[in-house]
Parts: sequence; C-alpha cells; structure tokens
Amino acid sequence: MFNFTFQLPTLAMFGKGQIQTISNHIPPDARILVTTGGGSVKKNGVFAQVEQALDGFYWIEFSGIEPNPTYETLMKAVALVKQEHLDFILAVGGGSVLDGSKFIASAVYFNGEPWDILAKHARIEHALPIGTIMTLPATGSEMNSYAVISRKQTAEKLSFASPLVRPQFAVLDPTTTYSLPERQTANGVVDAFVHTFEQYMTYPVNAKIQDRFAEGVFQTLIEEGPKALVNPTDYETRANIMWSATMALNNILGVGVPQDWASHAIGHELTAQYGLDHAQTLALIVPALMTHQKTNKREKLIQFAQRVWDYQGQDQDEAVQVAIDKTRDFFEQMGVKTRFRDYAIDDSQFSVILDKLIKHQGNNLGEHKNLDRQAIKEILYAAL
Ligand code: NZQ
Ligand code: ZN
Repeated sequence: MFNFTFQLPTLAMFGKGQIQTISNHIPPDARILVTTGGGSVKKNGVFAQVEQALDGFYWIEFSGIEPNPTYETLMKAVALVKQEHLDFILAVGGGSVLDGSKFIASAVYFNGEPWDILAKHARIEHALPIGTIMTLPATGSEMNSYAVISRKQTAEKLSFASPLVRPQFAVLDPTTTYSLPERQTANGVVDAFVHTFEQYMTYPVNAKIQDRFAEGVFQTLIEEGPKALVNPTDYETRANIMWSATMALNNILGVGVPQDWASHAIGHELTAQYGLDHAQTLALIVPALMTHQKTNKREKLIQFAQRVWDYQGQDQDEAVQVAIDKTRDFFEQMGVKTRFRDYAIDDSQFSVILDKLIKHQGNNLGEHKNLDRQAIKEILYAAL
C-alpha cells in the first residue's frame, strides 16, 4: 500500500427528511445563493422542502445550471454573488449543479480570468463555503473536492480540484431520487461503477481494505442498479445506490492505491465533441480500455472476475474475458450503450478528439503512464 494522508471533513446527512436539518448547518446570518438546474427540483418537491428549511434565512436563487455546467452560465452567477454580497452557496440538484457551484465559489475570489482555474490549474486561495443537497447519485460531488466544467465557446470540458470546494455538508435523501428518469438512474449507476473501477482496476498493492470496499461497491451497484429501473420508488434500493455513489468517489476507495482515470479523461473529450452524457462516454470506453490493457491489468481483472462476478473456474485467460464481458453486459443491462455505432458516431472526429486530449492531459495516461496517442486511438477504434 502507498503512503497517504486522508481527511473527510464533509458532514453527511443521510435519509428521508434530512433536508429540514440544513438550517442547523448554515450560519444564521448567511447570505445564501441557492443554485439549481433546469427545474427538476421544482417538479419533485425538493425545492419546496428547501424553501421551508430556509425560512428566516436570506437567500436568492440562481437557476438554469445545465447538465455539463458551462462557464458561460456560471459566470452570471458569479456576477450575482458579487452584486448581492452573498457568502454561502447551497447547491440543490445533480452533479452539474454541485460542480457548477464549486466553480462559482472559487471564481468569486479569483484574481484574473477564472477559466484559468481549469485551463491552467491556477491555484485557488479562497472559496465560498458550500452546502449540498444531492438529487442524483452518480458523481460523488457532494463529498469530494472535484468539479468538471464545460466551455461552449471553445467546446472544452475540463476539471479542477481543491480542498476549498469540498462541501461542508451533503444531504442524501434517497426519496429525492424517485423522480429520476431511467436514463439518469442508469447513468448514475454506471458513473459510480466506473469511479470505483478507476481506483481499483490497476495493479495490486496489497491494499486489502480499499480492494474489498471497492468490491462491495461494485456488488451493490450490480445488485441494486437493475432494481431501481424496475421499481424506482423502492426506498432501500435507492438508499443503497445513493450511498454507493457517494462512497465511490469520496476518496475512501482511492487512498494508498494506484489510480487510472484514463476513461474519464477520454470521456470528457467525447462529451465536449458529441454532447454525450458523461456516463454514456464511460460505457463506451471502459470495455475497450479493459481489452486493450488486459495484460497490464491482468491480476486485478482476475481478482475482479473472481470476487465481483463470482468466476469459479481455473482458467486465468477465461477469467480476464469474463471480467470484460460481464462489465459490458452490465452497462448494456442498465441501458447504457457500449459502442459508438449505437449513437451513429463514426471515426471522422477521432483525430480532433485525440489532439484535444493530448493538449489537455498529456501523452501519458493510465496508472502506468503508457497510454499515448496511439494507444488511445486504438481504444477509440475498438469502441466503434
Ligand atoms: O437540471 P435539472 O432540471 O435539475 O435536471 C437534471 C438533469 O437534466 C436531472 N436530475 C437531477 N436530479 C434529478 C433529475 N431529474 C429528476 N429527478 C431528480 N432527482 O438529471 C439531469 C442530469 O443532471 P446532471 O447533474 O448533469 O447529472 P450528473 O449528476 O450525472 O452530473 C454530470 C456532471 O458531473 C461531472 C460530469 O462530467 C458532468 O459534467 N462529474 C463530476 C464529478 C465530480 N464532481 O467529482 C466526477 C464525475 O466523474 C463527473 O465527471
Ligand atoms: Zn464520472
């Protein structure tokens, strides 16, 4: 196991009815920006609960943060925060609203062009405090320090990280997820699965806790994901999926182990190019990357087949193939397609994607830093 430092300062408030407790965790004199997306929280009653919980507080809403939140929209919120002297952000929605709020919180204090936070990894010195009410289990944004922001003008999608934007609290009420459309439920399960995968599917370093926690998250998503599609208002199913997604990317799985993240890096370029949902891009890339990297990832693929997919045979080559095939089948079972042709996408833009990927991420992705332009090109072609 590698050395690590670990701190998880976000307060998680999990369960039905927890929205009403937020007032205990926001300073009474706060001037609050409540951020929301395109209206789902108005339709499913979450916003009404927030209004009730904020009774007596000073707050203003900024709505319209879109999926794959854009710099262009978020800068309008930055102007509002400055104009109204707001000093706390309450983000209510999915990963996009939460990520967008992290950018707003940082950009408000940033000297210079805030896009540099993403494009140049400019250091953030201050950020507004953030509280979150997560309504889409997927990204883990409610308990992590990452955000992914898109820019329409340049068709870019980039990420940043700072401990200053890790939310102070995360409300996780599974009943808020009953209203999720199938596509978003499925996206969330696949995204959480792939977060676990990026921190697990590398090479063994004898990190038993991290491996077994990760295997528990995989198994839970495999068991509960399909159930949520059949019975979207089953509390226990939604609760288990919700906690899986948080656990998948709040750093618990990733301490002391090698990590990959190549599928995410490639996926962000696919979203920027084709407008595909984040999880759709992951389901395209992961099976192709597993196949391409099956020698480098061999030991973990075998462990994954045995412990997660219950492979009982003795043939190691077969175990590797089982790991790959079962993963693809699971994404397909969730209704998330695994080949470019399913979206009528051909190879005509691949060289543009590869150029942007190398510009943004360098020529050495993956846990062994061996995924160069040629390797990623092969992975893209394998996903056609
Ligand atoms: O905009 P509204 O009307 O709220 O509707 C949203 C949106 O249309 C809807 N939705 C959310 N909660 C709902 C709901 N609809 C009904 N009922 C509910 N309870 O779902 C749609 C998608 O929402 P979005 O927030 O975009 O999805 P998700 O949570 O998957 O977030 C995706 C973004 O997060 C980034 C992705 O790249 C993408 O930009 N990621 C963030 C990460 C992080 N911060 O750590 C890591 C991830 O790897 C990922 O990259
Ligand atoms: Zn993701």
